[in-house]
Amino acid sequence: MAEHKIAWLPGDGIGNDVMDAARMVLDAIGLDAEYVHGDIGWEFWCKEGNPLPERTIQILKSTDCCLFGAITSKPKEEAQRELVPELQNKGLTYFSPIVALRQMFDLFSNMRPCKAYPGNPLNYRDDIDLVVFRENTEDLYAGVEFHPLPQKVMEALSVHPKMKAFAKVPLEDIALSCRILTRNGCRRIVRAAFEYAHKFGKKTVTVVEKPNVIRETSGLMIREARKIASEYPGIELWETNIDAMAMWLIKNPQDYSVLVTTNLFGDIISDLCGQLVGGLGFASSANIGKDYALFEPTHGSAPKYAGQYKVNPMAMLITVKLMLDHLEEHDAAQRLESAIATVIREGNVRTYDMGGKSTTLQVAEEVIRKLG
Ligand code: IPM
Ligand code: MG
Repeated sequence: MAEHKIAWLPGDGIGNDVMDAARMVLDAIGLDAEYVHGDIGWEFWCKEGNPLPERTIQILKSTDCCLFGAITSKPKEEAQRELVPELQNKGLTYFSPIVALRQMFDLFSNMRPCKAYPGNPLNYRDDIDLVVFRENTEDLYAGVEFHPLPQKVMEALSVHPKMKAFAKVPLEDIALSCRILTRNGCRRIVRAAFEYAHKFGKKTVTVVEKPNVIRETSGLMIREARKIASEYPGIELWETNIDAMAMWLIKNPQDYSVLVTTNLFGDIISDLCGQLVGGLGFASSANIGKDYALFEPTHGSAPKYAGQYKVNPMAMLITVKLMLDHLEEHDAAQRLESAIATVIREGNVRTYDMGGKSTTLQVAEEVIRKLG
């Protein structure tokens, strides 16, 4: 039996292209693993009315971790239209399978490293090395939303004096999305950030919120962050507001090392950070929980490039490096990261986004040559 059992979920569009690159590299590294293919994404929404079939959930339950490619999602009306005729008007609604998996497996920590590999022409600066810890299960992603607003919810909300401002608005003209944070949710993501800082000798953790306006939820996050910070005397806690942080990350990104924030702010700020180090072709991520982990590049499925083997596999290969570390294959992870850094530094083999003409798989082959 292989040492590791990995769920293999290419998903939609270029998910397949970059997963092929990942597999070549994993095979070259000689990881002793069994890969179990799972169906997920738009294709299965259209054919089966479910983008995350139960059989796929069972595959995840029987594996050590999961490598995931990309997902296509479309607005409500298009989603309905693309369902096969026999499933139309059955009351099926599309949902994001990746958000569902994060919640289902309680993958509360979304770690998104944004490191500038020197020589990348897309780097904003070469000295950026930061990691975003994004809470991954709560906040506006919890999915507690209403439109129209049910009468009962209106009544319950009316205990709040600020609701007077909305008292005369018809219920069908009110949409409500709830920002829900829990103390435990705040604590565990902040702890994950501090543990990471501690492990890698980082001197600061920056909690990014908006407590001056969103007093209760962001307030809870900040208060819990301060408590946890007190357990790590060698690491300073910096507190910033999300809006100012967006500016500072453009002004002085090199000053920051570990950022921690809630789900939606983390979604936004991690795209900003990703762009500082080369954009979507370089943005990797790990969704980690107590019992399971799922690894995905943060780019989308880029349907127009699907199957053309044109897109940059670096985000996926850096994601594979994160997976290897998680599997405690630290040697292999280290070898892979050095090879990636070498390929970027030498600049002989580059996909179109970096100004080159090489294909997805040629980049993978070049990384393999540098594995040593
Ligand atoms: C991400 C993506 C997802 C998110 C989408 C595809 C649901 O933007 O992983 O950052 O919003 O979390
Ligand atoms: Mg995002």
